[in-house]
Amino acid sequence: MLLPTLRVFLALAVVYLPSTAVFAFQPGADYGLYKTTNLYNCSGTVLTSNVTARNSVDTLPQIEPLSDAGWEQWDFFMHGTFPIIMRWYQGDQSDCSSTPSVGKIDVAILDVNGTNVQTTLVGPLTYKNDAGVKAISIGDNTFHWDNSTQWYNLTLNVDGYSLVLNTYSAMLDTFHPNVGYYDGRLSSVGDPALYGSVPITRGQSGGYLLTPDKQNITLDGLTTLKHMFSEKALPGYISGYSSAIVWGYSTGFYDTHVFIEIDESNGTVHQAAYIGRAIQSPTVKTTFSSTYAIYAVTDDTALYHLTINQGLQTINSTFPGCSAVNNMSYAFNLTLAGVLGEFTDLGGGKTTYYTLNGTTSAPFGGKLVSAPISGAFEVYQAPTTSK
Ligand SMILES: *[C@@H]1O[C@H](CO)[C@@H](O)[C@H](O)[C@H]1NC(C)=O
Ligand SMILES: *[C@@H]1O[C@H](CO)[C@@H](O)[C@H](O)[C@H]1NC(C)=O
Ligand SMILES: *[C@@H]1O[C@H](CO)[C@@H](O)[C@H](O)[C@H]1NC(C)=O
Ligand SMILES: *[C@@H]1O[C@H](CO)[C@@H](O)[C@H](O)[C@H]1NC(C)=O
Ligand SMILES: *[C@@H]1O[C@H](CO)[C@@H](O)[C@H](O)[C@H]1NC(C)=O
Ligand SMILES: *[C@@H]1O[C@H](CO)[C@@H](O)[C@H](O)[C@H]1NC(C)=O
Ligand SMILES: *[C@@H]1O[C@H](CO)[C@@H](O)[C@H](O)[C@H]1NC(C)=O
Ligand SMILES: *[C@@H]1O[C@H](CO)[C@@H](O)[C@H](O)[C@H]1NC(C)=O
Ligand SMILES: *[C@@H]1O[C@H](CO)[C@@H](O)[C@H](O)[C@H]1NC(C)=O
Ligand SMILES: *[C@@H]1O[C@H](CO)[C@@H](O)[C@H](O)[C@H]1NC(C)=O
Ligand SMILES: *[C@@H]1O[C@H](CO)[C@@H](O)[C@H](O)[C@H]1NC(C)=O
Repeated sequence: MLLPTLRVFLALAVVYLPSTAVFAFQPGADYGLYKTTNLYNCSGTVLTSNVTARNSVDTLPQIEPLSDAGWEQWDFFMHGTFPIIMRWYQGDQSDCSSTPSVGKIDVAILDVNGTNVQTTLVGPLTYKNDAGVKAISIGDNTFHWDNSTQWYNLTLNVDGYSLVLNTYSAMLDTFHPNVGYYDGRLSSVGDPALYGSVPITRGQSGGYLLTPDKQNITLDGLTTLKHMFSEKALPGYISGYSSAIVWGYSTGFYDTHVFIEIDESNGTVHQAAYIGRAIQSPTVKTTFSSTYAIYAVTDDTALYHLTINQGLQTINSTFPGCSAVNNMSYAFNLTLAGVLGEFTDLGGGKTTYYTLNGTTSAPFGGKLVSAPISGAFEVYQAPTTSK
């Protein structure tokens, strides 16, 4: 059954959605709405955007939990005390026959005193969408957040470990790629389309991890949360995708660079990228007013250059400067530095996470400033025989 929101959406974008859509968008999300332009303002000194889509709405499931088609994935990564990867799933992205109501959480916590924690929880995925509290859970493993789009808190109990991690969304912003100018769309094909966003581009996390031998380890770090979904198993016309988040530090500013690349099997490549800047201390705060979205672009080669060199395991990207910053450009020079984890879908799709290290140079205070930068790179390879 279609919700009223989807009917409106169909009326606006009838060309892009199948008339027999079997899934329903949840009310309030702006996926699929037509946007007129990419957002950018290279200055880094002018507030250019408020939240383009409400983060908390963005984090809600878009596929109905009991729907018999589609899949949805939330991809959480923390870089700090330990690298932590968590993937919350509804359905499976490479197997049509799995039912979305089956939820799954893949967990990898690396090098906890020499031990790698890697496990998968499976069970019914439930969610709550009340005015004040929103939550996604499998049993007592819960990701919950407030409706002011600021705090994203999670509790997890796996293999004798208990994790409590509270994340403040420092950028107060969300990134929606918009292939063909449709909000949140990642593919050029509309039936079935691939959708996604980055609800938390720069989270500042604090919490603790209790180990099976009752050590209580304080955690702190930076996080990102990515969200993707489609009404079918990952459409066969997509051969893979990659994405990265890198966070830079300098004396005066903290930059966040996110990119997403989608590879269609006919050779078409879509690239979307975001740079945001915060001018504050990097500790968890309850207010974080000085944040700027410098660029949020999709498929705009005049504004964004990205080279992923698989052989050399390097990633380069640049954004042009503008007169406000003496035409000094923003550059990211990154090297893959080791595999963090690998996950295989039911249908044989494979996701690999790598550490990223490197440098960034960016205009700040009239000068080009260099700073170290680090984060994670994720590569998804679709199964070679699509199901
Ligand atoms: C962002 O929103 C706040 C509060 O709604 C408003 O005061 C501010 O002017 C907005 N900023 C921009 C750049 O639109
Ligand atoms: C385990 O690791 C944490 C964080 O690195 C550290 O604080 C703690 O002392 C370590 N415990 C042992 C027994 O090595
Ligand atoms: C947010 O939650 C509070 C209760 O915690 C409620 O009063 C308020 O109306 C909610 N705001 C929205 C926009 O839903
Ligand atoms: C999340 O944790 C923070 C920090 O402890 C707290 O201030 C906030 O109220 C919590 N929010 C939710 C929705 O649990
Ligand atoms: C293939 O490439 C064209 C652009 O040349 C694009 O419009 C189309 O959506 C692509 N994908 C598929 C599955 O045809
Ligand atoms: C672990 O430490 C945190 C503070 O970092 C504290 O809030 C929590 O209650 C402790 N948990 C246990 C079981 O000791
Ligand atoms: C990355 O960029 C630098 C500087 O622009 C260039 O020297 C280098 O060859 C590039 N590397 C790759 C793999 O594209
Ligand atoms: C971009 O920044 C310049 C100042 O550097 C300002 O004059 C201009 O209005 C800004 N444009 C937008 C769309 O915010
Ligand atoms: C920046 O580039 C523009 C367009 O190429 C040019 O007109 C302008 O003179 C340049 N400004 C500086 C400070 O180099
Ligand atoms: C990019 O990083 C590589 C490896 O650290 C380094 O050799 C190269 O000089 C860097 N290039 C630039 C333009 O900073
Ligand atoms: C990556 O960066 C970390 C922290 O700066 C450093 O310890 C590590 O050696 C770097 N790895 C590589 C391969 O450059």
